[in-house]
Amino acid sequence: MNPVISGPLYAVVPAAGVGSRMGAGFPKQYLSLAGQTLAEHTLNRLLSFAPIHKVVVAVSADDPWWPTLAVSGHPRIQTVAGGDTRADSVRNGVAAVLDEGGADAWVLVHDMARPLIRLSDIQSLLDQTGPQGAILALPVVDTIKQAAEEKHIAATLDRAHIWRALTPQLFPAQALLAALQGDLATITDEASAMERDGWQPGLVAGHSDNIKITVPDDLPLARFYLSRQQSDDSSEGEPW
Ligand code: CTP
Ligand code: MG
Repeated sequence: MNPVISGPLYAVVPAAGVGSRMGAGFPKQYLSLAGQTLAEHTLNRLLSFAPIHKVVVAVSADDPWWPTLAVSGHPRIQTVAGGDTRADSVRNGVAAVLDEGGADAWVLVHDMARPLIRLSDIQSLLDQTGPQGAILALPVVDTIKQAAEEKHIAATLDRAHIWRALTPQLFPAQALLAALQGDLATITDEASAMERDGWQPGLVAGHSDNIKITVPDDLPLARFYLSRQQSDDSSEGEPW
């Protein structure tokens, strides 16, 4: 293990969203992908990564689907209450990590809606992080425009310096909990909370199949990426 990660490693998985853009009528993590729910894909991958001590899942208090999944009773899964925003849900999960793991714990925060995470990308993140933490991300490929009012272009940004933030995002749990206090309205990922506190997390290049399933069109795309992962890795017996 990277010596920077001095304490136990945990995962926190925010899963208390309603999936409004998916429009399924229930939270999107319970949609099926190749015979398993998205939640089971995500959690089985995290649980199969041995260095993760425990996976803390933040779900809505009134979520009737979560307890019906066998994985919700796994000995390395802990359930906590979600919050009104993703950042609130993550904060509750990180608080539980500190309670159990102590002040030296590190935490990987990963969206439940990203079921195609590769264990090799998690390993890269752990290998490449420095003491300020790091996130999986991808350099953008499109030309990026800054918009002015009324949908006019104000500027073209230098694409060489623009990355898309993915998850997992890796930080010391105590510092992350401190960063997730106060106004969370503009906090859409963990790194932005840390940046607000003056940290400069690292960028680790991930894979573009680590999509966040958000709209209905993402499901056929996920099926394609999953089958490609399965054929790439068939000799190893694991589908990723
Ligand atoms: N999430 C959460 N608590 C919230 C809102 C979101 O834990 N109050 C979680 C979601 O369950 C998801 C992740 O954060 O795993 C990323 O959020 P997103 O993709 O936006 O999911 P939803 O909020 O469910 O979808 P939508 O925004 O379309 O309603
Ligand atoms: Mg959302």
